[in-house]
Amino acid sequence: MTATTAPVRLAVLASGGGSNLQAIIDHLEALGDERAAEVVLVASDRADCGALAKARANHITAAVIEKPADGPALARLLDMHRVDCVALAGYLKFVPTEVTSQWRGRIVNVHPALLPKFGGAGMYGRRVHEAVIAAGERVSGATVHHVDGEFDSGAIISQQRVPVEPGDTPESLAARVLAAEHHLYPRTLQVLAVRLSTSR
Ligand code: GRF
Repeated sequence: MTATTAPVRLAVLASGGGSNLQAIIDHLEALGDERAAEVVLVASDRADCGALAKARANHITAAVIEKPADGPALARLLDMHRVDCVALAGYLKFVPTEVTSQWRGRIVNVHPALLPKFGGAGMYGRRVHEAVIAAGERVSGATVHHVDGEFDSGAIISQQRVPVEPGDTPESLAARVLAAEHHLYPRTLQVLAVRLSTSR
């Protein structure tokens, strides 16, 4: 980044605790002048979720998505904040096509498994790790992928592998994968933002 290039304006959509959001904020802040993106908006379908509390604690605009299926309303919210790029971080609602179309190539998600395995509708949270263990997998990990209007089916951008240890529970595996997400997602977003800022 040069001093004359404004950071890409990033919105994070979340439904949960917001640990990925915090990892993104911390990583971008640690990059200092090199950061290619800044989080300008955090939006959630759950007014009481940790992600919105973390946004406020970091002095970032926090918004509640009242009707997650209302695509034009969500697109308006993102437009109002002049959002260039959208990162889903534990966002559990389907993102309407109005939004995935308008931000095509600029809307991404993190999934707690190595896609294309263990993804799709209903594959979130504990269920993913249960399925990985039940399948006898020796390796799991985190995937960052484009969002294209289906659950977990967009092009894969980056992956980080973690071992599945003998005796792992869904909880112990989830914790190891989450640490990988915290490493992978912010770095992938920085790379994407560099690409976006050089192409505009
Ligand atoms: C992460 O495992 C993410 O992959 C999944 O939900 C979890 C979100 O955690 N979709 P957090 O809200 O970022 O702490």
